[in-house]
Amino acid sequence: MCCTSCFSIPLVTVRLLLTSVAVLYGQRLLFGASSSNDDERSKLGGRWTRRISLAISVVISLLLAALAVFLLVLSTNDDYRRRNMVGLVVRQNLKSSPLDLHRCSIFNMGEDGGVRGRVLEYGPGPGTNFKCFPGRADDNNNTDAADYTTTTTTTTTTTTTTAARPSVDIIEEYVAIEPNPYFEDEIRKERDARGLTFPLRFVGMRGEDANANDGVVVDGYYDVVILTHVLCSVESVSDVLVNAERALKPGGRIIFMEHVAAGRGSLTWYEQALVAPILYIIGNGCTFRNLRHDIGMQLGDRFDIMIEDFDAPMPLFMHFVRPHIKGVAIKK
Ligand SMILES: C[S@@+](CC[C@H](N)C(=O)[O-])C[C@H]1O[C@@H](n2cnc3c(N)ncnc32)[C@H](O)[C@@H]1O
Repeated sequence: MCCTSCFSIPLVTVRLLLTSVAVLYGQRLLFGASSSNDDERSKLGGRWTRRISLAISVVISLLLAALAVFLLVLSTNDDYRRRNMVGLVVRQNLKSSPLDLHRCSIFNMGEDGGVRGRVLEYGPGPGTNFKCFPGRADDNNNTDAADYTTTTTTTTTTTTTTAARPSVDIIEEYVAIEPNPYFEDEIRKERDARGLTFPLRFVGMRGEDANANDGVVVDGYYDVVILTHVLCSVESVSDVLVNAERALKPGGRIIFMEHVAAGRGSLTWYEQALVAPILYIIGNGCTFRNLRHDIGMQLGDRFDIMIEDFDAPMPLFMHFVRPHIKGVAIKK
């Protein structure tokens, strides 16, 4: 298997290994080896303090070294990194989270909002957004349900039932542009699990490369383009947005929700600076970007753009994946 980063050791691995050694060395300097002067040791709390501090230092040092090796393996083995990413996103994103309120709100933003017709999604992962799609088996607020009021008459009773309109009637076609092939099975499973019935085409390609030139998508054809938590990992935000614009019909909409770089000097900004090299490897190239600016600049006045900033609570170990922007951009 081809591997672009083979033989290059990521800087973060080197830093973590050096920190791991420094923690042990620092412990030894502070508390001394077993042969050092007893008086000095007693100043720092005696034998038990020394033992406890040694145990803590060894644990921290081993954890740092394990993380360093894990990142090295991920960065040199593309296939393993992709599989690991699938496991992570499936575990985290498919379950419900406080972010869902915002995620699902964009699917009904603006007049004539909603996901319908021909839909193109960049980087859908395991189909995280399906939890917001109309026509789900668990969709009690389906605004299209009224169209599907059916009357059943038997010899003794007459019952009227309101069934959710099947998604195949709302979404004519759904195309997933997803470079990680290990998401294909997951996205199909998620569609079926949600009781969604629209036809799904999986295109194993990057958003930067998928356009009408190679016949993957059709220009001016789609009603909706979806982008959520994907622009952090693409190589070129502008190439993806150019392709999205080409693919949309006039009047079509891009709906988006992305995490962005925190304000310079804020606590989250420092957190982001600390985790950025690790996230870059684990998250397949994910970085913190000023996407409010990038989206505005790229789509310009060819789109009507509604964009909101928000700061949703995130799970502890993803605390730095904030703040967010969400919105809709309608092609004029
Ligand atoms: C963090 S996941 C987000 C998945 C999903 N959109 C969500 O909201 O949970 C990022 C996704 O973007 C995909 N991705 C990364 N680079 C991409 C690119 N250049 N074009 C399209 N998708 C890409 C990844 O494979 C992954 O599925």
